Amino acid sequence: MLSQEKNDLLTKVGADQPMGQLLRRYWMPIAAVSEFKDKPIRPVRLMGEDLVLYKDKSGVFGLVERKCAHRRADLAYGFVEEHGLRCNYHGWKYDQTGRCTEAPYEDAAAPLARLRDKVALKAYPVEVKAGMIWAYLGPQPAPLVPDWEPFSWANGFCQIVMAEVPCNWFQCQENSIDPVHFEWMHTNWSRRQKGDETNGPKHLKVDFADFEHGLIYRRIRDDTTDAHPMWTVGRVCLWPNGFFLGDHFEWRVPIDDETTLSVAWIFSRVPNEQEPFIQESIPAWRGPVQDPQTGDWISSHVMNQDFVAWVGQGAVADRTREHLGASDRGIAMLRRQFFNDLEKVAGGQDPKGVIRDPQFNQRVTLPIAERDLLINGLPADRLAQHPVFGKHLKNFVFQAGQPPEVLAAYRAAMGLEIA
Ligand code: FES
Ligand SMILES: [Fe+2]
Repeated sequence: MLSQEKNDLLTKVGADQPMGQLLRRYWMPIAAVSEFKDKPIRPVRLMGEDLVLYKDKSGVFGLVERKCAHRRADLAYGFVEEHGLRCNYHGWKYDQTGRCTEAPYEDAAAPLARLRDKVALKAYPVEVKAGMIWAYLGPQPAPLVPDWEPFSWANGFCQIVMAEVPCNWFQCQENSIDPVHFEWMHTNWSRRQKGDETNGPKHLKVDFADFEHGLIYRRIRDDTTDAHPMWTVGRVCLWPNGFFLGDHFEWRVPIDDETTLSVAWIFSRVPNEQEPFIQESIPAWRGPVQDPQTGDWISSHVMNQDFVAWVGQGAVADRTREHLGASDRGIAMLRRQFFNDLEKVAGGQDPKGVIRDPQFNQRVTLPIAERDLLINGLPADRLAQHPVFGKHLKNFVFQAGQPPEVLAAYRAAMGLEIA
C-alpha cells in the first residue's frame, strides 16, 4: 500500500513532475520506421506533450511541437519537403531542430525584420534502432539508445506491434515483474474462455533479483524443477519501462498520465531450412483494444489479456487501497528502485540503467532463457514440436488485429503454407 502522495510520484509523467523528469532521462520507442512509408507525418503525444513526428523527403526524421509558432495551426496536417516540415496555413517551414527556415510572406514583405529568426519550435532528438523510432525528451547530453543484443540477431522475422491502452504507464510496468499472473491471467483464463474448467501448472516458488538493466524474476511451477531456464535464467523487467521475454520486448510508453502506448518488438526465429532469411523492412501495426461491437476489452490474445488487467486497475491504479503479498516482492522492489532513482535525479545524477558508453553499448546482452534456440534455430519439424514456439507457428498469440499481409509475410518467412 502506498500513500496518495507516493502514488502520484510514481505515476505523473508531466515535464514538471519528478517521474516525468526521471523518464525523460531515457529514450522511448514511439513509432515504427515502416509506418512512414505511406504517410510521412503522424501526431504523437508523449509524456503529456503534443508533438508531430515526420520524415522529410531527404529521409530525416523530426519530432517537433505540434502547434505552428506563427498562429498555432496543427502541424500534423503540414507537408514534408526535401528538408523539413511546412505548415499548411501560411507556409512557414521548420527543420528537425525546430528552427524556422522559411516564412514566405514575411521573407518577401519584410526581409530585414527576419521574424523567423525570432521564433522556433520545441524539437527533440530522434533515432532509429531496430525498425523503431526512439525519442529523447530529456536534458543534454542525451544518453545512448540501448543496443540490445536481439536487435542484431540474424534469421528472424520481426514485427512491431502497438496499442494505445487507456491507463497509466506504471501499472503496466508493474506487470513486468509479476510472474504469478501468467498462471491465472494467461493459462487459466484462456482455458476458461474456451470452457475448460481445469487449471494449468501452479507456481510453487518465485524469486526476484536486481541487475544492471532492471530486475529479474524467476519461478518454479509444479511442472518444472530448479533446473528449468525459468528458474536458472528467468525473465527481465527492463529499465525503466520495458519487459524482455527472450523472443520479444514490450515497452510501456507514457502518452500522458492516463494513457500508455504499448510497443512490442517481436522476433520469430525462422527454421534452419529457411536460412538465410533477411528482412528488408520490419512491418508494424497497431491493434484495437476494444471490441467495436460490444465495447468489451478484447481478451483473446496474451497482451490483450494484460491490457484487461491494466485498464481494470483504473485510469491510475489506486495504490492506497491494495494489499501486497508474497507474490508482490518484485513489485515492491520496482517501486523502491524508482523512489531511489527519483532522489538521484533530483540530485543531478543518472537513474538506473542509463547507457552512455559507446564501447559498452554494442549488442548489450540480457538474460535469455531460450538463447540457444533463438540464435541457432531449429529444424522445422523440431520447431513445430516446441512447447512454446511450436504454438506460435499456428497462431499469432500476442495481440489481436494482426493485418493479413503481416501474417502472410510471417508465414512465408517461416516456410509455412500461406493460409
Ligand atoms: S499558423 Fe503556421 S504558418 Fe501560419
Ligand atoms: Fe501478461
